[in-house]
Order: sequence, then structure tokens, then C-alpha cells
Amino acid sequence: MAAKLSVNINKIATLRNARGGSIPDVIEAARNCELFGADGITVHPRPDERHITTADTYALAKIVTTEFNIEGYPDERFLRIIEDIRPAQATLVPDPPGVLTSNAGWDTLKHKNFLVDIIQRIKSLGVRTSLFIETDAALIEGAQLTGVDRIEFYTGPYAEHFVINPAAAIAPYIAASKIADQCKLGINAGHDLSLKNLNYFSKNIPSLLEVSIGHALISDALYLGLENTIKMYKRELGFGI
Ligand code: PXP
Repeated sequence: MAAKLSVNINKIATLRNARGGSIPDVIEAARNCELFGADGITVHPRPDERHITTADTYALAKIVTTEFNIEGYPDERFLRIIEDIRPAQATLVPDPPGVLTSNAGWDTLKHKNFLVDIIQRIKSLGVRTSLFIETDAALIEGAQLTGVDRIEFYTGPYAEHFVINPAAAIAPYIAASKIADQCKLGINAGHDLSLKNLNYFSKNIPSLLEVSIGHALISDALYLGLENTIKMYKRELGFGI
């Protein structure tokens, strides 16, 4: 089974916010992503609302027909959004306020008690949980102890090293995915995945369930068009369109 493609539409909101008003329209963008074959829509409503706002998130919840994935640091504000919307998935990231983009995974050992409580709370709403994480074996085993359903590999380091040595870049993710499989954790991945590095990642991680991709995909859409771009990303994942 090919991994699902969840399109992160934060960048559409970044562009809109640069001018104020409602162009481009994030609702229309989400609808079109789905129409063109996306399996899910991802948003990261940060407290400073610099891209997707809380209001966008509630509006999107009404129209998304595929898997809605909401990412964020699990503070009370985020948990209220999850409780109200009950998306298909909540992806928890350890971002400190003001960070430019999520650039580190959870320390699942240090934050175990915090995560156990939060994950239990989210799962009791019928929402699947995922933890943004790096490839250390101990942290993946620690994720299992939190009761989380899935992990999302932080693929920034993969993308960075891929251009130098693909085999070396993927090696830690292959090892980590085997541990995740043993721990019965589903595997998602995201960050800096692109048309250049996606196929190699997905074919080397057979149990990969889902990727969430924003920056490169939305940038490619400027040149290639959104419909073309989504079809190209799906092809890289093995859908053979
Ligand atoms: N996953 C998480 C947890 C993220 O924070 C982001 C960026 O918002 C992504 C995936 C997508 O990364 P990119 O925009 O580089 O594709």
C-alpha cells in the first residue's frame, strides 16, 4: 500500500496573510487539494496565527472530506481545538513558541508523564495521535510507552543529507522504522520532503503510512500547477498515476 499524501496548506495562509484579505483562499485550496488527489489536509495553527489561524482551522474542519490532521504543541488552546473539531489525527510537536518551523522531535523519555496524559485525553475523543520524533531507538521505544498510535519521523536531516549521500541519509530511518514496527507504532513522516527525495524515502520505508508535505509541494505548485504537482507527488509515493 502506498503511503497517503497529506498536503500541509500553511503556506497558502502565509501568502494570504502577507497582504491581508482572503487571497489565496485556504478553503478553496483545501478543496482543490482533495479534488486533485490529496488523501489528507494538514494544518499547524500556531498561537501567533502567522499562517493558519484558529478560525481557518474551524472553517476547514467543516469542509475537509479526507483525513484532517492538526499539528501543534499540546497546550490548552490546542487541546480545545482538538476537542471541538475531533480531526482524524492530532500530531504533537514539541515546538517552543516563536520557532520558525518544527525542527526537532520529542524527547519521549523526559516528557513521558506529560505525553501519557495528553495522549490519553486526545485518544478518548476518538482522535488518532502521532508524535513528531527523531530516529533514536530509545526515543521510539519511549514513544510506545506514551500510548501514542503513530510517530512522525522528522525528515529534515534526511533531506539535508540526501543530496550528499542518499544511502547514508536513509540508513537511520530504516533502522528506526524497524524499531517502530516492533513497537507496533504506525509511521508517518514529514519535513523538507520533496519531488527529489520522496520516492527514495517511501520505497525504503515499506511500513510508511503517511507523509505530510507543505513547503516544497506548494512551491512546486507555483511552477507546475497544483493539480499536476499533487499527481506528481502521488506518483513518487507509488500510486502510478
Ligand atoms: N510535519 C510537521 C510536524 C511540520 O511542522 C511540518 C512543517 O509545518 C511538516 C511536517 C511539513 O514540512 P514541510 O513544510 O517542510 O513539507
